Amino acid sequence: MRLELPREMERFGAVRFYGLQKVLELDAGLNGTIAPEPGTGIQRVPYESLYEIEKQMAIIIPVRNERLKLIEGVLAGIPHQCLTIMVSNSPKEPIDRFSMEKEALENFFMFVNKKAFIVHQKDPLIAKAFKKVNYPSILNSKGQIRNGKAEGMIVGTILAWLSGKKYVGFVDADNYFPGAVEEYVREYAAAFATSQSPYSMVRIAWQSKPKIIESKLFFKKWGRTSSNTNQLLNKLISHYTGFETEIIKTGNAGEHALSMELARRIDYSHGYSIEPYHLINLIEKFGGLSKSPFPDLMRKSIEVYQIESRNPHLHEVGDEDHIDQMSYLAMQAIYHSPICPNELRTELLHEMKEKELLTNSHKPPKPHQFPALINIKADEFFEEIKSASYAKLLNPAAVKKSEV
Ligand code: GDD
Ligand code: MG
Repeated sequence: MRLELPREMERFGAVRFYGLQKVLELDAGLNGTIAPEPGTGIQRVPYESLYEIEKQMAIIIPVRNERLKLIEGVLAGIPHQCLTIMVSNSPKEPIDRFSMEKEALENFFMFVNKKAFIVHQKDPLIAKAFKKVNYPSILNSKGQIRNGKAEGMIVGTILAWLSGKKYVGFVDADNYFPGAVEEYVREYAAAFATSQSPYSMVRIAWQSKPKIIESKLFFKKWGRTSSNTNQLLNKLISHYTGFETEIIKTGNAGEHALSMELARRIDYSHGYSIEPYHLINLIEKFGGLSKSPFPDLMRKSIEVYQIESRNPHLHEVGDEDHIDQMSYLAMQAIYHSPICPNELRTELLHEMKEKELLTNSHKPPKPHQFPALINIKADEFFEEIKSASYAKLLNPAAVKKSEV
């Protein structure tokens, strides 16, 4: 892959937010080093470097009630060398959607002979394991794993960690273009290959999202939720730096990946608020505004890459209400952060009322949050799930080796 070097950077304590990087060539050939090309502002990541990272990466697909044809396309887009983990929260009744997904995955991977497995979000063994390792925040009052995309992603992250992977990436299950899925994974790998830090994150900004407007295809750049969330996060950063910024372009990036070492040290937030909360929590924990729970990381750097993908992003269209709720969740996550300045809180309240998300007398609810996974013991967690069929693809002994 050949891509721009990040031209801009905002430093916030130990966190480096890099500006958007464009991709010049999806495949830049074999052999060679990753060094930037002198005088061009461009760097080349040879195919082997991508491959080496992909071998150490698990790709998680959170699924809830998606069309099987779409899921099959997504599976086909994930490079062979990545471990694929589907975390499904699809119903088992009246029709057993989960069994259908399992069958589709197993059929596909039998033909391509690849490492992959599917788990259900309500798998009682996984719930029991979370209880055992003292991580009750992910459980509901019935002792099951709570509903939500973030909750499924946390399950996937733990399983990726237990399989000894160094990186974990996420792709949605409702993508119409397998080629776009492949591109996202390659971009995750390119960012990790160029990263200088073991604590890094990469987030995808789509170059376009096709829509049909007056019976013609229109390639829209920014969605409503994304523009709003980006603007709010940029305001949050500007408040502290004193300089207006547009650095954040991926506030809602569902397509993103983390080094496992970073994934285990950040907190998470319910459902679709997970992606904006990543950025808020990085500032909370590593921005230098208060004492970091990981003081030795403050002497290192945490890198946030943002890459603009080439393929158009076409997925199932959600209704207006779904889009408003996603935007509302992002606003709730910002509003309730201890680092949210009062002026921004007032602005958020005003916006929520104007958009009729909130009635005059109320404050927004705080999205449910989940502490970092860092204290979970691999052996204890594995012990509870070792009888499951997917446990043979896990390797808790490899966990120690992959940690920095
Ligand atoms: N395991 C699990 N559990 N998966 C879920 C759940 C759940 O409770 N709810 C949704 N999913 C899956 C969906 O099946 C899909 O694969 C993925 O999570 C994203 O959900 P969508 O409902 O398709 O979200 P969206 O398209 O509106 O929004 C996506 O893009 C946004 C950026 O524009 C999401 O990825 C958002 O998180 C992201 O901010
Ligand atoms: Mg979608």
